[in-house]
Amino acid sequence: MTIYLDNAASSCPKPPAVPEAVNDCLKNYCANPGRGAHRLAVAAARVIFQTREKAASLLGVNDSANIVFTQNATDSLNMALHGLLKPGDHVVTSVVEHNAVIRPLKALARRGVEVSFAGADSRGRIDPEEVLALAGPGTRLVALAHTSNVSGAIAPLKAISPALRERGVPLLVDAAQSGGSLALDVESVPADMIAITGHKGLMGPQGVGLLYISPEIELMSVRQGGTGTRSEDEQEILARPDRYESGTLNTPGIAGLGAGIDFLRQEGLGKIAAHKDEMVSRLLTGLSRLENVSAYGPAAGESRAPLVCFNVGGLTAAEVAARLDREFDIASRAGLHCAPGAHRVMGTLAGGAVRLSIGPFNSQADIDTAVEAVAAISAGDRANGARD
Ligand SMILES: Cc1ncc(COP(=O)(O)O)c(C=O)c1O
Repeated sequence: MTIYLDNAASSCPKPPAVPEAVNDCLKNYCANPGRGAHRLAVAAARVIFQTREKAASLLGVNDSANIVFTQNATDSLNMALHGLLKPGDHVVTSVVEHNAVIRPLKALARRGVEVSFAGADSRGRIDPEEVLALAGPGTRLVALAHTSNVSGAIAPLKAISPALRERGVPLLVDAAQSGGSLALDVESVPADMIAITGHKGLMGPQGVGLLYISPEIELMSVRQGGTGTRSEDEQEILARPDRYESGTLNTPGIAGLGAGIDFLRQEGLGKIAAHKDEMVSRLLTGLSRLENVSAYGPAAGESRAPLVCFNVGGLTAAEVAARLDREFDIASRAGLHCAPGAHRVMGTLAGGAVRLSIGPFNSQADIDTAVEAVAAISAGDRANGARD
């Protein structure tokens, strides 16, 4: 059976209740939520409301109307960035962000938004002082990932956020990787907007995401259309969440996401996070003992997201990932992981790295088998090197 260690791309497998919830929706109440008063439309609207409430409770948000359903984290981040920033505004981000932040900001820069980039050290860590030095009182937004999908470094949000609040600068957190792996409530992640994707740590299906928008923030909605409410009004609807959710939502996906959040709550987010921590330190320790292998990101003993990027001697990352798949049935991901800046600071921009990322169902045996497989690949490489 495949050892799946590509959970930072999409978690797999899902808890059984997730496909069951998706199926239940498609089989039993696949009507349009909020677009009719018959019982199946009401059932669809109810599951959306329930998932919104579950997400609000996961994030420690009092009013679930401030949680908006999106397609994924990319959609959430685009809504936040394009909805808030106007020509002449200044935004601070970092060089290690995912393209889901970098590319919208580059597009906005072409339209006159000024973007400043905080640097990162070779382990992917951002200096909070540098972020604060760049974010003056005139800055419109600071946008940072909670955890890097490449180095696994955790952003110093707690050190940054109080000063930003004092200066009246909102903080947008890209929590695509941290949902389901770290505490994610608005107390632990003191943010004004939080973008999350459903298909990674939240254990939901692909095609659904969330954006928390604090009541103090008003975004220009990038999409207008039918909401099933106040249809006589041709102007855009201003009430939340409808304002940001024009068009029919992904009800089966949202039903599955609700089941994913239930799983996190039933198992306990703390317990899942502790398991992932244990597995990632086992992986890092195992890889660090291999002579021909370079592992990147925060050192052993430092907190990190449940993933490790590494390279093996003279082999390309693509070759190692292909051999892990072909010879050992281990799913990993090679390349730049949509975050070239994170590879630049680690010195791996040329060929990228191999990433192994952990989910709640990975066992010690999975990790040990993966380390043994990398050891075998690395030993072959060393033997070849000796012959050359
Ligand atoms: C840090 C980070 N931000 C944003 C995203 C985008 O997530 P999605 O593809 O679900 O929109 C990812 C996906 O890997 C990510 O790792």
